[in-house]
Amino acid sequence: MTSPMPTRKDFPEGFLFGVSTAAYQIEGSRFGGAGACHWDTFAATPGNVTLAEGGGVACDHYHFWEQDLDLIRDGNFDAYRFSTSWARVMPDGVTPNPEGLDFYDRLVDGMAERGLTPSLTLYHWDLPSDLAMKGGWTNRDIAPRFTDYALAVMKRLGDRVDMTATLNEPWCIAWLSHFLGVHAPGLRDIRAAAHAMHHTLLAHGTAMAALRAEGHDNLGIVLNFETAHPASRRADDMQAALRQDAIYNRWFIEAVTGAGYPAAALEGLQPHLPKDWQADMETIAAPLDWIGINHYTRAIYRAVDGPWPAGEAIPGPLAKTQLGWEIRPDGLYEFLMRVGQQAKGTPLYVTENGMAWDDRVLDGHVSDDIRQAYIRDHLAAAKRAIDDGVDLRGFFQWSLLDNYEWSHGYGPRFGIVHVDYETQKRTPKGSYLMLREALNR
Ligand code: FCB
Repeated sequence: MTSPMPTRKDFPEGFLFGVSTAAYQIEGSRFGGAGACHWDTFAATPGNVTLAEGGGVACDHYHFWEQDLDLIRDGNFDAYRFSTSWARVMPDGVTPNPEGLDFYDRLVDGMAERGLTPSLTLYHWDLPSDLAMKGGWTNRDIAPRFTDYALAVMKRLGDRVDMTATLNEPWCIAWLSHFLGVHAPGLRDIRAAAHAMHHTLLAHGTAMAALRAEGHDNLGIVLNFETAHPASRRADDMQAALRQDAIYNRWFIEAVTGAGYPAAALEGLQPHLPKDWQADMETIAAPLDWIGINHYTRAIYRAVDGPWPAGEAIPGPLAKTQLGWEIRPDGLYEFLMRVGQQAKGTPLYVTENGMAWDDRVLDGHVSDDIRQAYIRDHLAAAKRAIDDGVDLRGFFQWSLLDNYEWSHGYGPRFGIVHVDYETQKRTPKGSYLMLREALNR
């Protein structure tokens, strides 16, 4: 059953409607003097990415940025969540590249000219290769390196960006990339994963303190959440789902809100964490001005034989997107309620939500009814959470454009605007037109 489309008037005054993108997925990493990042080399390694595609050109947003900002303004959106690429700003991870900073300077000015509120994410996965070669997120030194990078970006843009997140989805940076091996650097090692789970948060906390000391404000972090349901009522399946929930949905939010790491995850990870990790927990729990929630789907877990945390996701019965992700808007409602409780007093934003479909342009139009229903149902779930008392301040669609979907390459189309990668032609889809209408003032 799908919900009627909510409109601007159904949400509180000042609620931010926005779109989200990430640098590596749209800009084109070969332009503007950017250094190599670990995604360039991960993609160049056989077997990692569908068709071995990388972000070298992507949507060429590096050259099309004005047209892309026009699309956001013309869609009646209020805000744009974008990320700066560490490898563009500092090609070797430490030395600033003026050309890179100039690009973001123009971009932020371009948002102001169009009346768009800039929402910056400092790290959306483009780690400079020189730092990756030194162990990347498994090396404690990443915390001061990230902090220097964050300070350099904010020194240049901080006077004009409205809200800033340190990291996008530390679960992906750490677990998906170092334990499941699905994202760069493609490791499958529990010790590397545990170190990265701690060092992402240490880098976040260290940067938060340094940014505040420089007078920057409205600082937060973006976390992803995915319901983990058990495959059956059997005790071992229930255990597998609880372990998954602890690693995915509890580890990061509980640490940044001062509750520490959950026992159900420490049970397996403690021996693999960096020495004296406890001494960092206060830094990690730096006060947050806001929390971003990314939500797409849910997963069903069953126990399998093997070492901790043995469990695997199995296909579920609900309608699925192009990537096989089950569509479950109730999950968004549930996490908004849950995080609203865990972080009482901290404003929340939905920083990403959307779905992939194999969209085609027919006679100049892209009809994406299934995405339109997805958007309606998820906006309705967000509204329900607000009605039930959650301090939700904004909702960003993933994504403005079809783009580079990491290990899946360019096949999955998440945009509300279609991109023809041969010509770089942008074609607004039905979902864009629906949102434009609903957000009309
Ligand atoms: C999120 C990522 C984003 C995009 C969506 C589909 O996990 O933050 O870059 O790939 O998934």
